Amino acid sequence: MTSLFQEVSPGAAEETPTRQITVTVNGESRTAVVEPRLVLAHLLRNGLNMTGTHTGCDTSNCGACTVLFDGKPVKSCTMFAVQADGHEVMTVEGLAGPSELHAIQEGFKEEHGLQCGFCTPGMMMASKALLDENPSPSEDEIRWALSGNLCRCTGYQNIVKAVMWAARKLEDQG
Ligand code: FES
Ligand code: FES
Repeated sequence: MTSLFQEVSPGAAEETPTRQITVTVNGESRTAVVEPRLVLAHLLRNGLNMTGTHTGCDTSNCGACTVLFDGKPVKSCTMFAVQADGHEVMTVEGLAGPSELHAIQEGFKEEHGLQCGFCTPGMMMASKALLDENPSPSEDEIRWALSGNLCRCTGYQNIVKAVMWAARKLEDQG
Protein backbone atom coordinates (compact mmCIF):
# COMPACT_ATOMS: atom_id res chain seq x y z
CA MET A 1 0.00 0.00 0.00
CA THR A 2 1.68 3.21 -1.13
CA SER A 3 -0.87 5.74 0.03
CA LEU A 4 -3.71 5.94 2.45
CA PHE A 5 -6.38 8.57 2.12
CA GLN A 6 -9.46 8.93 4.19
CA GLU A 7 -11.81 11.87 3.93
CA VAL A 8 -13.96 12.05 7.02
CA SER A 9 -17.00 14.25 7.59
CA PRO A 10 -16.69 16.47 10.67
CA GLY A 11 -18.44 14.81 13.58
CA ALA A 12 -19.15 11.61 11.71
CA ALA A 13 -15.79 9.89 11.87
CA GLU A 14 -17.00 6.73 13.61
CA GLU A 15 -19.94 6.00 11.30
CA THR A 16 -18.45 7.03 7.98
CA PRO A 17 -18.32 4.01 5.69
CA THR A 18 -15.11 3.62 3.72
CA ARG A 19 -13.81 1.31 1.07
CA GLN A 20 -10.28 0.34 0.10
CA ILE A 21 -9.50 0.84 -3.57
CA THR A 22 -6.45 0.22 -5.73
CA VAL A 23 -5.89 2.40 -8.77
CA THR A 24 -2.97 2.39 -11.19
CA VAL A 25 -1.96 6.04 -11.45
CA ASN A 26 0.68 6.89 -14.04
CA GLY A 27 1.79 3.26 -14.06
CA GLU A 28 2.08 2.94 -10.29
CA SER A 29 -0.35 0.95 -8.16
CA ARG A 30 -1.83 3.17 -5.44
CA THR A 31 -4.08 2.01 -2.65
CA ALA A 32 -6.35 4.30 -0.68
CA VAL A 33 -9.20 4.09 1.80
CA VAL A 34 -11.95 6.42 0.66
CA GLU A 35 -15.48 7.44 1.40
CA PRO A 36 -17.88 6.42 -1.37
CA ARG A 37 -18.75 10.09 -1.97
CA LEU A 38 -15.14 11.12 -2.70
CA VAL A 39 -14.65 12.19 -6.32
CA LEU A 40 -11.64 11.06 -8.29
CA ALA A 41 -10.28 14.60 -8.70
CA HIS A 42 -10.12 15.03 -4.94
CA LEU A 43 -8.47 11.65 -4.44
CA LEU A 44 -5.78 12.64 -6.94
CA ARG A 45 -5.21 16.12 -5.52
CA ASN A 46 -5.75 15.68 -1.78
CA GLY A 47 -5.11 11.98 -1.27
CA LEU A 48 -2.25 11.35 -3.65
CA ASN A 49 -0.82 14.91 -3.75
CA MET A 50 -1.08 15.01 -7.55
CA THR A 51 -2.06 18.64 -7.80
CA GLY A 52 -1.44 18.83 -11.54
CA THR A 53 -5.09 17.88 -11.97
CA HIS A 54 -6.94 21.14 -11.42
CA THR A 55 -10.51 21.64 -10.25
CA GLY A 56 -12.11 24.75 -11.67
CA CYS A 57 -15.84 24.19 -11.35
CA ASP A 58 -16.55 20.76 -9.76
CA THR A 59 -19.63 20.65 -11.99
CA SER A 60 -18.30 19.06 -15.21
CA ASN A 61 -18.21 22.33 -17.11
CA CYS A 62 -14.60 23.47 -17.37
CA GLY A 63 -12.54 20.36 -18.12
CA ALA A 64 -9.58 21.48 -15.96
CA CYS A 65 -9.80 18.15 -14.11
CA THR A 66 -9.50 15.99 -17.25
CA VAL A 67 -7.46 12.81 -16.86
CA LEU A 68 -7.24 9.64 -18.90
CA PHE A 69 -9.26 6.75 -17.51
CA ASP A 70 -8.25 3.50 -19.19
CA GLY A 71 -6.98 5.71 -22.00
CA LYS A 72 -10.15 7.75 -22.45
CA PRO A 73 -10.54 11.37 -21.31
CA VAL A 74 -12.83 11.88 -18.34
CA LYS A 75 -13.60 14.86 -16.15
CA SER A 76 -12.37 13.51 -12.85
CA CYS A 77 -14.76 15.71 -10.86
CA THR A 78 -17.63 13.72 -12.33
CA MET A 79 -16.41 10.28 -11.21
CA PHE A 80 -16.29 8.77 -7.78
CA ALA A 81 -12.90 7.47 -6.70
CA VAL A 82 -14.44 4.06 -6.01
CA GLN A 83 -15.33 3.81 -9.72
CA ALA A 84 -11.61 3.88 -10.48
CA ASP A 85 -10.94 0.77 -8.39
CA GLY A 86 -9.01 -1.68 -10.58
CA HIS A 87 -8.60 0.82 -13.42
CA GLU A 88 -5.78 2.91 -14.89
CA VAL A 89 -5.60 6.67 -14.54
CA MET A 90 -3.12 8.96 -16.23
CA THR A 91 -2.68 12.50 -15.01
CA VAL A 92 -0.61 15.35 -16.40
CA GLU A 93 2.21 14.27 -14.08
CA GLY A 94 2.48 11.10 -16.16
CA LEU A 95 2.99 12.88 -19.48
CA ALA A 96 6.68 13.74 -19.39
CA GLY A 97 9.45 11.16 -19.49
CA PRO A 98 12.15 11.09 -16.80
CA SER A 99 14.36 13.58 -18.66
CA GLU A 100 12.27 15.27 -21.30
CA LEU A 101 8.91 16.88 -21.87
CA HIS A 102 6.18 15.12 -23.81
CA ALA A 103 5.64 16.53 -27.31
CA ILE A 104 2.33 17.98 -26.13
CA GLN A 105 4.05 19.88 -23.34
CA GLU A 106 6.70 21.08 -25.79
CA GLY A 107 3.97 22.18 -28.18
CA PHE A 108 2.28 24.30 -25.51
CA LYS A 109 5.64 25.86 -24.71
CA GLU A 110 6.64 26.50 -28.33
CA GLU A 111 3.28 27.90 -29.41
CA HIS A 112 2.51 29.83 -26.22
CA GLY A 113 -0.51 27.62 -25.60
CA LEU A 114 -1.03 28.90 -22.07
CA GLN A 115 -1.41 32.14 -20.22
CA CYS A 116 -2.35 31.61 -16.55
CA GLY A 117 -2.00 27.84 -17.04
CA PHE A 118 -5.08 26.86 -15.07
CA CYS A 119 -6.76 25.02 -17.93
CA THR A 120 -3.49 23.59 -19.24
CA PRO A 121 -3.38 20.16 -17.55
CA GLY A 122 -6.89 19.36 -18.73
CA MET A 123 -6.17 20.69 -22.22
CA MET A 124 -3.04 18.54 -22.40
CA MET A 125 -4.80 15.36 -21.29
CA ALA A 126 -7.69 15.90 -23.71
CA SER A 127 -5.07 16.51 -26.43
CA LYS A 128 -3.26 13.31 -25.50
CA ALA A 129 -6.48 11.33 -25.87
CA LEU A 130 -7.07 12.92 -29.26
CA LEU A 131 -3.55 12.29 -30.59
CA ASP A 132 -3.54 8.70 -29.31
CA GLU A 133 -6.63 8.07 -31.42
CA ASN A 134 -5.99 10.42 -34.31
CA PRO A 135 -2.27 11.22 -34.80
CA SER A 136 -2.78 13.92 -37.43
CA PRO A 137 -6.02 15.74 -36.64
CA SER A 138 -7.33 18.69 -38.59
CA GLU A 139 -7.82 22.04 -36.89
CA ASP A 140 -11.55 21.37 -36.72
CA GLU A 141 -10.98 17.96 -35.14
CA ILE A 142 -8.74 19.53 -32.50
CA ARG A 143 -11.35 22.18 -31.73
CA TRP A 144 -14.01 19.48 -31.43
CA ALA A 145 -11.84 17.29 -29.18
CA LEU A 146 -11.13 20.23 -26.87
CA SER A 147 -14.67 21.60 -26.91
CA GLY A 148 -15.31 20.31 -23.37
CA ASN A 149 -12.36 22.26 -22.02
CA LEU A 150 -12.67 25.95 -21.23
CA CYS A 151 -9.83 28.45 -21.22
CA ARG A 152 -10.81 31.52 -19.25
CA CYS A 153 -7.81 33.35 -20.69
CA THR A 154 -9.36 32.59 -24.11
CA GLY A 155 -6.09 31.36 -25.61
CA TYR A 156 -7.79 28.87 -27.88
CA GLN A 157 -5.96 29.78 -31.09
CA ASN A 158 -2.55 29.04 -29.62
CA ILE A 159 -3.82 25.91 -27.91
CA VAL A 160 -4.88 24.55 -31.28
CA LYS A 161 -1.48 25.50 -32.73
CA ALA A 162 0.19 23.73 -29.79
CA VAL A 163 -1.66 20.50 -30.51
CA MET A 164 -0.78 20.73 -34.21
CA TRP A 165 2.87 21.30 -33.23
CA ALA A 166 2.74 18.20 -31.00
CA ALA A 167 1.15 16.12 -33.76
CA ARG A 168 3.99 17.04 -36.13
CA LYS A 169 6.63 16.29 -33.48
CA LEU A 170 5.10 12.91 -32.66
CA GLU A 171 4.95 12.09 -36.37
CA ASP A 172 8.65 12.99 -36.72
CA GLN A 173 9.46 10.82 -33.74
CA GLY A 174 7.73 7.92 -35.52
S1 FES B 1 -13.47 20.80 -12.29
FE1 FES B 1 -14.14 19.09 -13.40
S2 FES B 1 -15.05 19.93 -15.17
FE2 FES B 1 -14.48 21.67 -14.00
S1 FES C 1 -4.49 29.67 -19.85
FE1 FES C 1 -5.68 30.62 -18.30
S2 FES C 1 -7.50 29.46 -18.29
FE2 FES C 1 -6.45 28.74 -20.01
